Amino acid sequence: MAVYKIVEIGDEVLREKAKPVKEITPNIIKLLDNMADTMYEANGVGLAAPQIGVSKRVIVIDVGEGLVELINPEIVEASGNVVDTEGCLSVPGMIGEVARADKLVVKGINRQGKAVTYQAKGWLARAFQHEIDHLEGVVFVDRAANLRKAE
Ligand code: NI
Repeated sequence: MAVYKIVEIGDEVLREKAKPVKEITPNIIKLLDNMADTMYEANGVGLAAPQIGVSKRVIVIDVGEGLVELINPEIVEASGNVVDTEGCLSVPGMIGEVARADKLVVKGINRQGKAVTYQAKGWLARAFQHEIDHLEGVVFVDRAANLRKAE
C-alpha cells in the first residue's frame, strides 16, 4: 500500500492532455492500487492519474457502490442534464455547482486488459465525467457556477 501526494491546481500536469495506456504493465497495476489507496486515504470519491502527477489515462472511482478502475476511459453515450455540487481533491476546500449528463455509457479497459462497459447514472455518472475531464486537462472549477469555500 502506498499513498501518493495529490497535486493541486496551479500544477501544469493538471492542464495536460493525458496519454493513453498502450499496455498493462506491472507499473500500471501498481498505479491502480496506489491510486485507490490515495483516494480512500483522502476520503475522495474519485481520482485521476494526473492528480498524482502521472499524465496517463487512468481513473479510479468509488461513490459508495464499490471500486471502479478504468484505463483509457471514453464516454460513448450521454443523456440528461443535472446540476449538483462538486469538489475536487486537487482544489481543497472549494465547491461549486456543475451541470453534468445524468446517464452515461462509458467504455475502457480493466486491469486484465479486457474491454469493459459501464452504464452509469447519478453520482457515478458525475464522477466519471469529473475524472475524465481531468484526463483532458479540465478541472471542475472551469465548469462550476457559484464557486465558493466549503463550509
Ligand atoms: Ni477532481
